[in-house]
Amino acid sequence: MKSSTELEINSVKHKVEADPSTSLLEVIRQELGLTGTKYGCGEGQCGACTVLLGGQPTRSCITTLGEAVGLPITTIEGLEKNGRLHPLQQAFLDKAALQCGYCVSGMIMSAAGLLASNPTPSEAQIVEHMSGNICRCGGYPRMVAAIKEAAEAMEGQK
Ligand code: FES
Ligand code: FES
Repeated sequence: MKSSTELEINSVKHKVEADPSTSLLEVIRQELGLTGTKYGCGEGQCGACTVLLGGQPTRSCITTLGEAVGLPITTIEGLEKNGRLHPLQQAFLDKAALQCGYCVSGMIMSAAGLLASNPTPSEAQIVEHMSGNICRCGGYPRMVAAIKEAAEAMEGQK
């Protein structure tokens, strides 16, 4: 049954009228129009729908609206600040770490979660952390390089 809920996404509060069992991905894309977050498998297996929920990389396709209430959510649209791309977004562009691009929002959000908890990950740690994100175009080496470059850029900004 539909009910009224408040969600905080990208530091903005939104009123949502939906059943609490609705997937967070559906709310983000259909109700709020934030289509940077992608629908891939819908089963928690590919990572295309990854957002940060309470700072943790989370598969929004298998997370319900009810589970997300009260926790800040960040989507790919929330990463740039004042017209400047997040270092991860910039590094993915600079390293040409995308082909079709479908997986990239989820990749970047997973990587953002990694760098928040481990600002200087080793290559092995990056590969391990990103192993749940699938890229059908096989862009993994460039993505790992982009994440390393972003980590270095973010350390340099401190
Ligand atoms: S769409 Fe959510 S993990 Fe694939
Ligand atoms: S760039 Fe095409 S799926 Fe990853």
